[in-house]
Amino acid sequence: MAALTENMLVVNILLSVFFLPGDLADYCYGGLTPALRITTPNNMEALTGSCLQIPCTYETENTEFNSSRSIYGVWIKGGNAPYNVIFNSSGSVNTFQLEIIGNLKEKNCTTLFPNLATSHADKYLFRIENYPFRAFACADPLQITIKDSPWSPSINVPSDLKEHQSVTVTCSAFTPCPHSPPELTWNLQQDSLRQTEENTDGTFTTKIQETITLSDTHDGYNITCSAKYPVIGGTKTAETEVTLSVSYAPKDTSASISPSGLVSAGSWVELSCSSRAKPPPRFTWFRISKYGTFNVSVGQVFSFCVTERGEFYCMATNDLGNQRSSVILLSIKGNL
Ligand SMILES: *[C@@H]1O[C@H](CO)[C@@H](O)[C@H](O)[C@H]1NC(C)=O
Ligand SMILES: *[C@@H]1O[C@H](CO)[C@@H](O)[C@H](O)[C@H]1NC(C)=O
Ligand SMILES: *[C@@H]1O[C@H](CO)[C@@H](O)[C@H](O)[C@H]1NC(C)=O
Ligand SMILES: *[C@@H]1O[C@H](CO)[C@@H](O)[C@H](O)[C@H]1NC(C)=O
Ligand SMILES: *[C@@H]1O[C@H](CO)[C@@H](O)[C@H](O)[C@H]1NC(C)=O
Repeated sequence: MAALTENMLVVNILLSVFFLPGDLADYCYGGLTPALRITTPNNMEALTGSCLQIPCTYETENTEFNSSRSIYGVWIKGGNAPYNVIFNSSGSVNTFQLEIIGNLKEKNCTTLFPNLATSHADKYLFRIENYPFRAFACADPLQITIKDSPWSPSINVPSDLKEHQSVTVTCSAFTPCPHSPPELTWNLQQDSLRQTEENTDGTFTTKIQETITLSDTHDGYNITCSAKYPVIGGTKTAETEVTLSVSYAPKDTSASISPSGLVSAGSWVELSCSSRAKPPPRFTWFRISKYGTFNVSVGQVFSFCVTERGEFYCMATNDLGNQRSSVILLSIKGNL
């Protein structure tokens, strides 16, 4: 008996705290649980002059709720009393030309905000009116923040790129309104696969995607992607750039000799090897003789005192492969 009166007291306090004047009279809590919950991102960013689609679903455990009766969705700006009703899906109030595009009977309160301005940055509360059931989603306020410059797209490239690999590169951009998505362009092929997808939280992302087969020429290549957002009276653009880093086996391996031409026995010559490779290559020198081919030196430069004619080549090696230079002939004056 004592416990019962205590519970009633708690309910009474809650009811009196959240009881409101006139038409808005209702409650936030049924007992100790919220009377109405909505699922929406807690915080949404919008762009000035652009629209914003607010994903929203609602639920209530209150037995007074009956979807066969008319349901009105109401948005309130400010989040606190005095309540500023900006939208009532009955059509009675619509200060910012909002539209509930979700089906309220299916508990979908997805709302379209057509043209955001800085003054719209605020906390918004959602409310359902389904007489006699009426409740605010007090526990789930939506914060809208407004920015003046658009979201930079993000470029996604797998890590650890190697030549001959086929990789999928994606450029994606936050899409505040799926019916007017940003236009994405980049310096890869223009007819890339393009799509606007719904994320798990009900927001949308627009992507372009391209599969490229990597070669050494892609190393150091800059991919730039720009997202052009339609806004009232024009567009707003943001750009992102990434530089590809592609590993490749040695290329253009060549050997040179200094001094060039005929040399005298007893003089010094220097053989030098060059190659393009990523990561940088190691060099090994080989000598071809009538007894076979021998590994004679390690390192980019091989200097020695000439005693006899010879044929040499170098080999550049890294983790991805190796490449041989063409053969250099060392000829000695007056001695063939
Ligand atoms: C819901 O409302 C309809 C129409 O007023 C009524 O026929 C139905 O019995 C109600 N359902 C419940 C569960 O109260
Ligand atoms: C919403 O509109 C309905 C129908 O006109 C009205 O009964 C109700 O009081 C309105 N609610 C608010 C919060 O303005
Ligand atoms: C709610 O309605 C919107 C607009 O029609 C739709 O895009 C979204 O998928 C719906 N959400 C759910 C959970 O059904
Ligand atoms: C790629 O971008 C970087 C940084 O902006 C720049 O230094 C570099 O020159 C660019 N590379 C090419 C190939 O344009
Ligand atoms: C060449 O010889 C060096 C020293 O013996 C050895 O470390 C290296 O692995 C050899 N390189 C090749 C390609 O055989």
